[in-house]
Amino acid sequence: MTADPSEPVPRDWWKSAVVYQVYPRSFMDSDGDGIGDIPGIRQRLDYLQRLGVDVLWLSPVYKSPMDDNGYDISDYYDVDPLFGTLADLDDLIADLHERGMKLVMDLVVNHTSSAHPWFQESRSSKDNPKRDWYWWRPPRPGHSPGEPGAEPTNWGSAFSESAWTFDPDTGEYYLHLFASSQPELNWENPEVRQAVYSMMNWWLDRGVDGFRMDVINLISKVVHDEPPDLRDGIRGGPDRQPGPIDTVRFGDPGPHVLHGPRVHEFLQEMHREVFAHRPPGLLTVGETPATTVEQGLLYTDPARAELQMVFQFEHVDLDSGPGGKWDLAPATSRDLIDSLAQWQEGMGEIGWNSLYLGNHDQPRCVSRFGDDSPEHRDRSAKALATVLHLLRGTPYIYQGDELGMANAPFRDINDTRDIESHNAYRAALARGQDPDAAMEAIRYKGRDNARTPMQWDASEHAGFTTGSPWLEVNPDHVTVNAAAQVNDPDSVFSHYRKLIKLRHQEPVVVHGTFTRLLRDGEDVHGYLRRLDGRELLVVANLSSKEGLEAAVPDAPTWAASELVLSNAPEPAERDRIVLGPWEARVYRRG
Ligand code: NOJ
Repeated sequence: MTADPSEPVPRDWWKSAVVYQVYPRSFMDSDGDGIGDIPGIRQRLDYLQRLGVDVLWLSPVYKSPMDDNGYDISDYYDVDPLFGTLADLDDLIADLHERGMKLVMDLVVNHTSSAHPWFQESRSSKDNPKRDWYWWRPPRPGHSPGEPGAEPTNWGSAFSESAWTFDPDTGEYYLHLFASSQPELNWENPEVRQAVYSMMNWWLDRGVDGFRMDVINLISKVVHDEPPDLRDGIRGGPDRQPGPIDTVRFGDPGPHVLHGPRVHEFLQEMHREVFAHRPPGLLTVGETPATTVEQGLLYTDPARAELQMVFQFEHVDLDSGPGGKWDLAPATSRDLIDSLAQWQEGMGEIGWNSLYLGNHDQPRCVSRFGDDSPEHRDRSAKALATVLHLLRGTPYIYQGDELGMANAPFRDINDTRDIESHNAYRAALARGQDPDAAMEAIRYKGRDNARTPMQWDASEHAGFTTGSPWLEVNPDHVTVNAAAQVNDPDSVFSHYRKLIKLRHQEPVVVHGTFTRLLRDGEDVHGYLRRLDGRELLVVANLSSKEGLEAAVPDAPTWAASELVLSNAPEPAERDRIVLGPWEARVYRRG
């Protein structure tokens, strides 16, 4: 661990930290109801401490109807009984702090649940004082309320529906860029912003150490002075950003809602109202789909006082075609490394990167970017982790990735629970798509791949629950599980431990410059980190091909240098770097 609770918190501690994401529903169930909970997380803190992570990012545990597993919040000030109580959360914070670890909460304030009292008031009448807290609009001129095509704009939601839902009680539509039960908050209204800031302050006063901000680059929309103030999006077209919207049926809201005109103003205001008057050391990371390097710099340049880092999506959108998320377009390891390197170079000395390959919205990284066959699973999981963790930025580990957990063998849609997959499947069938083809996309990209229960041991429900799990455990838990790995020095878990330790011990990992090597490599990739004469060379064969040479400059000297980390047996050759399938090596000199 880096942090000692008795020491003052260094301003930029998060630069040398590693964050672990817990998706509470799937982490550890303490009461046998089949759903993970906060007391369950508390039972597993020894495991996280052994791994060596510094921060736990907790996906939402607030009160929620759970249409989107907690990303639909109905009370920001309480814990959902499924997960426990506020007292349980206070205990978790205390436990973590005692161990020198921190807790980052998920902050979902682009939208609430439709069950939130704010929305209930807002929908109750057109002249309710909270009417303007959400985006209400009359039907499109010339159309009857509720009829197809009467929606105020043609925007699609990320969950395969129109982004507008008609509310017959007041005859108007409300906006939701996700599910219809996730109405968008209207950040134009200063009362909304103040309500959000006081809630954030309440949580920080309670002891949390920062926030991961859900789709925070959607909070400002393009509002025109002339009617219609919100305008239609473009359909289809190869030049649109890959994303989740079905632009055959709907217009793309992207240009109207992503990085809107007031987003930086709002984030700077949030900083003043919430963070500026507190001691330094709180972590802020914004989830920002469709962000370019240039925008990433605007969000994370410390001089602008907005966010410390963002989750950009470029590398996880590489395998989406022009038809959106479900339009599978295989990407190569070269595409992946090109993208990561471009972010390294672009953020340079000004911005700061979040480093991630997986989270609760993405398929398992070993299945997507590695090779989850029994032959290559462990080695490819370690190679990917090596390449990612030694970049400049703050690494995020999604629960189970440190074990090499893989995508789930869903037989059909009934094996999945996710609202996004269910809506996408329904929409695909309505378009006339073959159910097998629709399922193929869900099997590859569906979010439940990441949400199968954590694999603690080889027992019936993987040690996750004594009851019946809300989503089936992956049958591979009999071999892939924490119990089999924590004490095995060659396990994926142990490899992650070593990477975390290296970051904690080597300033070059945290502060060193980044230089891309092997720019033309199809399968073999490499980069150099440098700080004050200290150098680290990272090379990896991200393929199952045998015997590929990493022809880096000065290779013979490197090959004879100290090998600090590797995922394969001791190399035979000491004057060339020749890598086996999914082999990764880290050399050090200086
Ligand atoms: C991003 C979250 O990570 C995802 O799980 C959620 O469905 C959407 N935002 C809406 O909150």
